[in-house]
Amino acid sequence: MSEMTAALNDHLSLEYAAWHDYSAMAVWLERHDLPGFATFMKAQAAEELAHANRIVDYLLERDLEPVLPAICRPRGDYASVLEVFQEVLTAERKVSASIHGLYKLAEKQDDQPARIMLEWFVNEQVEEENMARAVIGRLKLAGETGPGLLLVDQEMASGMVPGVSEGPPA
Ligand code: FEO
Repeated sequence: MSEMTAALNDHLSLEYAAWHDYSAMAVWLERHDLPGFATFMKAQAAEELAHANRIVDYLLERDLEPVLPAICRPRGDYASVLEVFQEVLTAERKVSASIHGLYKLAEKQDDQPARIMLEWFVNEQVEEENMARAVIGRLKLAGETGPGLLLVDQEMASGMVPGVSEGPPA
């Protein structure tokens, strides 16, 4: 297995972990009567699975070997919604750093197909970090309990939070 293929396979563990962690967060949010946040987080989890599949499909298209990773049990319990999104931001920064490393490797090896495929991820990570920061900012403004939290929950459902453009799934 080439260095690039191995590195892409290593990265898969981050995307699958994000899918698993965000799915657990969606469950926690649903159980805490926050349907707007829960719906948003389910959509985010689905995006992470799509990211993993994008890399798997790329490897298959190039006749390279995808190796699916083991996934750790997600945390599943959080002190607050703010903590959930701080954890999302930390995870997204880790994914961004990994993508940037992959991009540099593709440049170093003059692997043009990998470099072009990774450009999509570089842009996606800018959006994902911005989304997490925007939600954290909104939660800090509105407060983490009571009417303020309910307001942000409604905003999440309607896609009104800056950086959160998805809105409810169709
Ligand atoms: Fe696929 Fe949010 O990183």
